[in-house]
Amino acid sequence: MSAEPLEIYLEEQDLGRGLREDVRTGLTAAPKWLPPKWFYDARGSELFEEITRLPEYYPTRAERSVLAERAGEIAELTGAKTLIELGSGSSEKTRLLLDAFTRRGGLGTFVPLDVSVSALRQSTEQIAADYPGLRVRGIVGDFTRHLHRLPAGGRRLVIFLGGTIGNLLPAERAGFLAAMRAALEPGDWLLLGTDLVKDPAVIVPAYDDGAGVTAEFNRNVLRVINRELDADFDPEAFTHVALWDPEREWIEMRLRADRPHRVRVLDLDVAFAAGEELRTEVSAKFRPEGIAAELAAAGFTAHEFWTDADGRFGVTLARAD
Ligand code: SAH
Ligand code: TRP
Repeated sequence: MSAEPLEIYLEEQDLGRGLREDVRTGLTAAPKWLPPKWFYDARGSELFEEITRLPEYYPTRAERSVLAERAGEIAELTGAKTLIELGSGSSEKTRLLLDAFTRRGGLGTFVPLDVSVSALRQSTEQIAADYPGLRVRGIVGDFTRHLHRLPAGGRRLVIFLGGTIGNLLPAERAGFLAAMRAALEPGDWLLLGTDLVKDPAVIVPAYDDGAGVTAEFNRNVLRVINRELDADFDPEAFTHVALWDPEREWIEMRLRADRPHRVRVLDLDVAFAAGEELRTEVSAKFRPEGIAAELAAAGFTAHEFWTDADGRFGVTLARAD
């Protein structure tokens, strides 16, 4: 079976408007910042896939090992009819769940949602080809805005993997979980992947690899802005910085201007001082008790919490109250 045509909740013009608003807000703020969803054009999605294969980037392998071990249990416990995946990217690890649901029977529909059209095109075609009988409905959308439009009915399991929830700021995270709960019925399930607090000597290299792939990924946001908004950033004039914040327990990604210069974007003339830093992303790391508490505050009960053998990455299976 081929995938159904992508459902578009987010048009090119919405993306353009959102990008313009975010660029205006972020680049006129002090300190300057940009929101992370703009990393993921076709090239950004490819670079992220490359990151997942780096020796330093442990989260993907750790999460995959949990899913490999627990997929059967997840399929049994949830008995889901519909599997919804937020920020699905390539949905590569999701195949472990699809395999388990195929063995068990009963799963009818897979609904991946992502802002990246290119990632969704590829993943939906490949999954539809590899799982005959599964209905595959890809949605181009923003998980911070479009959760109320997710398909209703049937027993649903929403999965949010890769530690992507850690890319939201704490207040955004609470809003996201509340909107998620509002979109679900009591008894629906949420499977949440979270990277865990650990020695920064392990975390930092995952965001600052020796081959410089993460640095390229970080600079890609400037290329997106150049292309979409006809700006004149010189990506090579910025150095990638990954910094562990021990108080907030998150990694902060920044781009540091190597020399003083100005950038034309929209109707702005943005000045960068030498060494000035632009924040592009945070990646929060979690503690088990914190995850359960945030889920409870949003109206979920954590039923299972699993980690990989090294205790690096956590996967929580929670149920909507
Ligand atoms: N789930 C995959 C990919 C994680 S990377 C994994 O675990 O490997 C984060 C993914 O979320 C990317 O595919 C990116 O395009 C998507 N994304 C980022 N911000 C988003 C948003 N606001 N709405 C929807 N998708 C988003
Ligand atoms: N969800 C990923 C994470 O927080 C995203 C990510 C990995 C990322 N490496 C990055 C985002 C580098 C920006 C820069 O682990």
